[in-house]
Amino acid sequence: MAFLKRAAVPIRHGLRQIGLGRVPFIRAFGPSPDGLAALLESGFPGTAQRLAAAGSWGVDWHRAATSFIVPGPGGPLAHAGMLPLPVTIHGAVHEVGYIHAVCTRPDRRGGGLARAVIEAALRASDRRHKTQILLTNDPVLYSRFGFRTVPEHVVRLVLDQPTGGRTGLAERLLATVRGHPRLLAQILGGRLPVSRELGVGPERPLYTLNECLSPLWWLPDLGVVVSWELENGVLALYDVAGPVLPDLDTLLRHAPGPVSEVVFHFSPDRFLKDGQAGGLAGTAYAVPVGPGPVLMARGPFTRADALVMLPRPWR
Ligand SMILES: CC(C)(COP(=O)(O)OP(=O)(O)OC[C@H]1O[C@@H](n2cnc3c(N)ncnc32)[C@H](O)[C@@H]1OP(=O)(O)O)[C@@H](O)C(=O)NCCC(=O)NCCS
Repeated sequence: MAFLKRAAVPIRHGLRQIGLGRVPFIRAFGPSPDGLAALLESGFPGTAQRLAAAGSWGVDWHRAATSFIVPGPGGPLAHAGMLPLPVTIHGAVHEVGYIHAVCTRPDRRGGGLARAVIEAALRASDRRHKTQILLTNDPVLYSRFGFRTVPEHVVRLVLDQPTGGRTGLAERLLATVRGHPRLLAQILGGRLPVSRELGVGPERPLYTLNECLSPLWWLPDLGVVVSWELENGVLALYDVAGPVLPDLDTLLRHAPGPVSEVVFHFSPDRFLKDGQAGGLAGTAYAVPVGPGPVLMARGPFTRADALVMLPRPWR
């Protein structure tokens, strides 16, 4: 086990050499160390496609995140990643460590390798952050490392009258983003968190990795990029990125069709004041998030009774 702990070392990219004392040192150049993409693909099918898509948007994921690996003769045997994330929690900005892509090569599972890389990532994050967060389908695995489940809620706003879908000013960004990578980078670099209760501020790598295959809508007259999906009058709202956020009435006028219900997949404190949606009449209520990845935190995070949800670009 002592060997495993020593072997779980961070990989840094680029030309700068990082001194790690007596710990075995691994230096990697280029977009990804040999074999890492295959390892990640074995644990999380589709990752290679996302990494390539994010790369075409100008994001080199492996430069943004720090990788902790157990090296092996045919490539990495296990991996955990850590990314610093600027998270707004109840109105205050904190940098938290985002632990992700924990994976052991299938033929080496059950031998303590994931423990080695998780502990290495947590040790590194502990030096910089009071809090670590992650998303997982396997909360039992992480509870042994001090993580606890954070209950999450969506908020449904059922409108008295359908509204929206009138201006037709939305352009789909996804189709055109290759021609406008600077536009998205600029928007994300100057954005507000979509919620003061639990939101993420200026951040590009994880947003891009997670949203690069989703339809994104650029609303030029409002200066925001929106992640939303409209089906049968129900608008699932995942994120609104921009330096100034419009009010809900204005936003819905840009929806791709009439809206009878909005489902906020984040705390809607910027859009619903005291449960009221500006000029819109309706009824809002919170519903626990259904099946899917669970948000976990280690260290100070949201209040236990808070009705929050980490927005989709960071899940
Ligand atoms: C989950 C995974 C990373 C475990 O890797 P591993 O190298 O076999 O794990 P380890 O042997 O280091 O086990 C570490 C600890 O977690 C426990 N554990 C391992 N897999 C677990 C699981 N799926 N659920 C709950 N606990 C688990 C082990 O019992 C061990 O506990 P202990 O150290 O307290 O005795 C591996 O199965 C994998 O790559 N799965 C696919 C990707 C994935 O699901 N990643 C994690 C979810 S985000």
